[in-house]
Amino acid sequence: MTILVTGGTGYIGSHTCVELLEAGHEVVVLDNLSNSSEKSLERVEALTGKKITFYQGDIRDRHVLDLILEKKYMDCCIHFAGLKAVGESVQKPWEYYDNNITGTLTLVDALRQHGCKNIIFSSSATVYGEPAQIPITEECPKGQCTNPYGWTKSMLEQMLMDIQKADPEWNVVLLRYFNPIGAHPSGTMGENPNGIPNNLMPYITQVAAGRRKELGVFGNDYDTPDGTGVRDYIHVVDLAKGHGKALKKIEEKAGLCIYNLGTGHGYSVLDIIKNFEEVNGISIPYVIKPRRAGDIATCYCDPSKAERELGWKAQYGIREMCADSWNWQKNNPNGYEKNIVKK
Ligand code: NAD
Ligand code: UFG
Repeated sequence: MTILVTGGTGYIGSHTCVELLEAGHEVVVLDNLSNSSEKSLERVEALTGKKITFYQGDIRDRHVLDLILEKKYMDCCIHFAGLKAVGESVQKPWEYYDNNITGTLTLVDALRQHGCKNIIFSSSATVYGEPAQIPITEECPKGQCTNPYGWTKSMLEQMLMDIQKADPEWNVVLLRYFNPIGAHPSGTMGENPNGIPNNLMPYITQVAAGRRKELGVFGNDYDTPDGTGVRDYIHVVDLAKGHGKALKKIEEKAGLCIYNLGTGHGYSVLDIIKNFEEVNGISIPYVIKPRRAGDIATCYCDPSKAERELGWKAQYGIREMCADSWNWQKNNPNGYEKNIVKK
């Protein structure tokens, strides 16, 4: 199949490109590089020995979409492109609604006008809000999101469901990711956050690298075994493979499908620190800080629907996630930008 991958130079998108190329698909990437580097695709090509067609452009730009879709018929779009920083979305809600919602509406309209009615959408566990039950199944009701980023995911899910209902020629797979961490085991690809990391694992790896003094642990008074927040961390390569499986549902013309992509195991912040220290032999100094606004105590999923219907199950454990995260960071202290000259 020929797959249009929006946001394909980003963290999850680039790892998914590896899986798609290895499965024999043709890959066309559209990304505006607002949070990524084109160099990630050089690494993808080096790992797979295959070529990617790359367009630098914005999903809100109808002209660029028409140009790409006129040039080549797309069998499916895997839609990663979006802004994703929770805190920033509270400061810049308009920018988040415009980028994520206007962008997706523009993309979907262009796709259907060019005869592609197949989409796999990057959604998030955040749509469950304060979850109704743990582990979270796909039947759990969606909840109140605590930030504009979360609302964009929740609204886009609804919009895609309504579009599919009105026109059953559409096949829509909504993938609700839990907490992706880790990096390609080769150590050549990984997460490349701009500025101070918001998420736990990139912060830990930067402490390990000596770029930050200590980790702040956001709250130790939650109702969890050790008082710190519990999450379902999933290796990014497992997540990437989930997209390959989701493509099979598209091929089967399955209509609307929704899957949790997680491991089904919950780890606390202190569990992650301990595993990282043990696996990599590096100590991670930390201090307990107040709770972070909008955080919930516990969030992990029941991933059995994806196993049943997609034949997908996460293979990597927490120790591999910690080892691969560090392997990437230590080999690429400046991310994809090798030659940063310090003044
Ligand atoms: P990322 O920032 O590394 O990748 C997103 C990519 O989209 C970037 O390369 C960025 O430049 C591009 N992009 C953003 N807006 C664009 C636009 N208007 N036009 C074209 N390109 C644009 O993030 P990621 O972690 O790889 O996340 C991929 C998707 O998965 C996002 O939609 C994100 O919301 C979703 N998601 C991520 C997580 C997570 O924790 N990483 C969890 C749940 C869901
Ligand atoms: N945490 C810290 N210190 C930090 C960063 C995080 O203690 O410096 C804690 C958080 O309080 C939380 C846990 O580590 O308990 C995980 O936090 P992350 O920021 O890594 O991840 P979140 O679960 O908050 O959110 C992430 C993405 C969201 C996505 C969600 C899906 O940022 O976009 O996973 O579950 F929606």
